[in-house]
Amino acid sequence: SPSDPDLVERARKAKEKLGDKVFVLGHHYQRDEVIQFADVTGDSFKLARDAAARPEAEYIVFCGVHFMAESADILTSEDQKVVLPDLAAGCSMADMATAEQVAECWDVLTEAGIAEQVVPVSYMNSSADIKAFTGKHGGTICTSSNAKRALDWAFEQGEKVLFLPDQHLGRNTAVRDMGMSLEDCVLYNPHKPNGGLTADELRAAKMILWRGHCSVHGRFSLDSVNDVRERIPGVNVLVHPECKHEVVAAADYVGSTEYIIKALEAAPAGSKWAIGTELNLVRRLANRFAPEGKEIVFLDKTVCFCSTMNRIDLPHLVWALESLAEGNLVNRIEVDKETEAFAKLALERMLALP
Ligand code: 13P
Ligand code: SF4
Repeated sequence: SPSDPDLVERARKAKEKLGDKVFVLGHHYQRDEVIQFADVTGDSFKLARDAAARPEAEYIVFCGVHFMAESADILTSEDQKVVLPDLAAGCSMADMATAEQVAECWDVLTEAGIAEQVVPVSYMNSSADIKAFTGKHGGTICTSSNAKRALDWAFEQGEKVLFLPDQHLGRNTAVRDMGMSLEDCVLYNPHKPNGGLTADELRAAKMILWRGHCSVHGRFSLDSVNDVRERIPGVNVLVHPECKHEVVAAADYVGSTEYIIKALEAAPAGSKWAIGTELNLVRRLANRFAPEGKEIVFLDKTVCFCSTMNRIDLPHLVWALESLAEGNLVNRIEVDKETEAFAKLALERMLALP
């Protein structure tokens, strides 16, 4: 839907008034009405890097979700302020691993006598607390665009990986990219005593997967892949690695949001694509590439937007920009010093991956 011209004008004016003092980052899952004001767009890896590369901006307005804004705060200097236009823009996956649960898990691994062999690898989609835990225990952060490199690195440091919080990215990367089998992976359920696993099961595992998932990507099914192949002969199925293993195994291509965009840019005219990722991005890509004769459809029409990404809308962005332009710092995301120090260690290990 076209954005309200009045709000567009107000956002433009406030941004103009702020000039170089503000830098607006937009994740690919953001609404069109918001993305039009982003100075850069990207996947979560690119945005983390771009936030760190803007030391002149006093304000970083993060159009994305809470864990991304936290990561930006960790990677920027002390006098830079990160603003999330709506504080309710969280991530249900990140909420699936709390600091207490993860500390308890580490106790379970210690009890089983394997903690010393375990390297934590945490997906970017996690709270600053989880990133700090990861840094403290010698681990790294990864995103969907560097998960394989992160796992390669982790298996050079130790024999086992505790992968959190997304079981699907962990499993898909281990099996699809690292040659492991499904039997090498066990699922740790934070809601069960000892994660629902015996000490022997933990000792035999190579990948200990946290039982978390994305509520949006988790809804794409194998049926939707089979259906689209029947409906559109010759279709290329391209999905995000947060999808279930059976979906990823049946797809033709798998990758991060940035990868998906690049693949479609490189696709020949006349090619047909079914995309399994968030709807704002898929719609934008379908509109963008239709004039070039590329047919792009959403993999499963019953799946909808990421509701928390969608919380950042034009009214919230206007409010944040106008407040900053008037000198009112609103919705600042600030990670405490101790958490930040350890979380930064883990994030910097990711940024240094070969
Ligand atoms: P990427 O942008 O890294 O592919 O991540 C997708 C996602 O779900 C972010 O919340
Ligand atoms: Fe979290 Fe999934 Fe939304 Fe990404 S798409 S922010 S992982 S709920």
